[in-house]
Formats: sequence, C-alpha cells, structure tokens
Amino acid sequence: MMMDRISILQGDITTIEVDAIVNAANSALGGGGGVDGAIHRAAGPGLIEECSRLGVCDTGSAKITGAYDLPARYVIHAVGPIWCGGEDCEPALLASCYRRSLELAVEHGARSIAFPAISCGIYGFPVAAAADIAVEAVGDFLTTDTSLKRVLLVCFDSEVFGCYERVLAELRRRGQWQRPRLLPGPAG
Ligand code: AR6
Repeated sequence: MMMDRISILQGDITTIEVDAIVNAANSALGGGGGVDGAIHRAAGPGLIEECSRLGVCDTGSAKITGAYDLPARYVIHAVGPIWCGGEDCEPALLASCYRRSLELAVEHGARSIAFPAISCGIYGFPVAAAADIAVEAVGDFLTTDTSLKRVLLVCFDSEVFGCYERVLAELRRRGQWQRPRLLPGPAG
C-alpha cells in the first residue's frame, strides 16, 4: 500500500485548505445533520442550490460540486451505507465511496483531498472497521495514482482519531507505513 501520502488529523473538515473536501451526504443530496450540516452551513446557500440540480446519488457513489464559501475548491458528496449489521454489502459500499471520491478528485485535477469518517456518525458504521476500510481503500488507490499528493483523514472526535491511529500503527508495525506524517490532534 502507498501510505506516505496519507495523514490523519483531528479537527473540523470545513476549515481545512485542500482542493477537495468530501461530505458524508445522503442520497437526496439535500443537506442534513453531522458533517453534512456543518459543510452546508460553512459553504453558504449556493451549495444546496447546486446540489438540488444534481438529482439523487446512489449509496457507494459520489457527486462533485463547487465549494462556495469554504476554503476548498470542490465538495465531493459521497453517500455512505447505513449500517444494518454488516450483511448488506456495507463494507464494499463504504470502500466504494472512498474510491469514487478519489476518482472524481483526480478527474477534476485535485492534488489534495480531505475525508470525514463517512458513515461513522448518524449511519452507525462501527468505527474500527470503517477506519480499516478507509485506510485500505485510500492506500490501494494511491498505488496506481500519482496525481494526489495529500489525502487527509479528518476525525472530528477522539474515538475516531484513536481508531485511525491504531490502524496506522498496525501498518507501521507490518512495515507498510513508509514515511509517517501523523498530525496528532486535536487541531488548534
Ligand atoms: N468535520 C469533520 N468530521 C465531522 C464534522 C466536521 N465538522 N462533523 C461531524 N463529523 P455523520 P454519516 C464526523 O453523522 O454517519 C447526515 O444527516 C462525525 O463525528 O456526519 O455518514 C447526512 O445528511 C462522524 O465521525 O455522517 C446523512 O443523512 C463522521 O463525521 C447522514 O447524516 C460522520 O458522521 C450521514 O451519516
């Protein structure tokens, strides 16, 4: 896995200056609570107006918009699976959210991207499993992509941050983490 371009940090994704931030959206792309609400509040009304012209988005997929008042250039709205016990393709759908978001970022020339912990809030995905899937999906993507220079996995709370730290520590132990660039939180 190509781990040297992945970093984790604890903080608020709406404040991060990267080319693209990913939103944990719902399939209606109509805004909501959690990180979706925070992104829409920070972006201003142009974002919901653009989203309303995009139609629905399938679970496991993503759509891209401008970022309006956010410091990013794009918002990539990914629709994670609702956790229903794990027998309903939730892990594959979550991995697909990460892949599809990365593909869209590259198609739009982004060099940096920040993800929240998709599905780990209101959608109830177990955080440790989701952290594994996120790191593996991003790491796999970066083995064939050279255009993305920086992928940030942004954790809002310390439980999620701790899970990502454990996943990365295990990769380091196995020698798969080449140049660690961990940014210990909380971000100031
Ligand atoms: N920055 C980074 N991460 C955040 C922020 C923030 N400002 N705010 C919350 N998180 P959730 P989901 C974390 O519930 O589970 C919405 O209503 C949060 O702590 O936002 O995919 C949508 O419209 C958690 O770790 O997304 C959908 O209906 C993670 O982001 C539904 O919720 C994801 O939590 C999607 O649920």
